[in-house]
Amino acid sequence: MLQVRRLNAGYGKVQVLWDVDLTVRRGEIISIIGANGAGKTTTLKSIMGLIIPFKGTIQFDGEDITGLPVHEIVRKGISLVPEGRHLFPKMTVLENLRMGGYAVNGNKYRDLLEKVFQIFPVLKERRNQLASTLSGGEQQMLAIARGLMSDPKILLLDEPSLGLAPKIVKKVMKVVSKIREEGITILLVEQNAKISLEISDRGYVLETGKIVLEGTSDELLRNEHVRKAYLGLM
Ligand SMILES: Nc1ncnc2c1ncn2[C@@H]1O[C@H](COP(=O)(O)OP(=O)(O)OP(=O)(O)O)[C@@H](O)[C@H]1O
Ligand SMILES: [Mg+2]
Repeated sequence: MLQVRRLNAGYGKVQVLWDVDLTVRRGEIISIIGANGAGKTTTLKSIMGLIIPFKGTIQFDGEDITGLPVHEIVRKGISLVPEGRHLFPKMTVLENLRMGGYAVNGNKYRDLLEKVFQIFPVLKERRNQLASTLSGGEQQMLAIARGLMSDPKILLLDEPSLGLAPKIVKKVMKVVSKIREEGITILLVEQNAKISLEISDRGYVLETGKIVLEGTSDELLRNEHVRKAYLGLM
């Protein structure tokens, strides 16, 4: 479904990603794990069209989307839930969802809203509350829900566990699995290797802008380097 080939990208003269290759098949949950500054967000921004790659290609559903404007990439079925959530704090839950669904028509919007409220009942209860009054976990749920409102085929999630208590992180990961069951493919970026590999099918390890390891999640969870560097185990 998504094929990133020899992606080189960065900011101005600073190169961050070096020949990154990754493949996501329909229906998978794929993790990219990596430390602070490894280039995880830069990878997602490149896929989303928020930055233009220096070199390399990004194919989606067999079509080259490299360098297309963001709104066209959204229309093709890719949605990003950004790191740090970036909600509209002075807008209500419903208004935030409306922003996510700005490009879908009336009937579709109502269907999506119903589906999203089914996955996130708490957002339905709080639909008229300002986003800023939600708890951290609820805000992350709202960010994910807003991402779903553009009716994506693939959802890119940038560190959804960031700043959340372990119990809430588990809840968020459950929701991610549920979204996959609804037929949406997931590319999940995390510093928290354990929780992301536990729910994903395969994963990639990104270190200083290069993919250094890839495999099934079970393989990575058993891998000695992953255990030492990312799981704090021996
Ligand atoms: N807008 C920018 N301008 C210049 N350099 C940037 C910019 N954004 C990120 N960088 C640099 O690119 C490198 C990779 O950053 P990136 O945000 O992709 O890492 P990350 O893996 O997402 O890290 P984190 O886990 O902290 O979110 C870092 O060295 C960072 O300083
Ligand atoms: Mg990041």
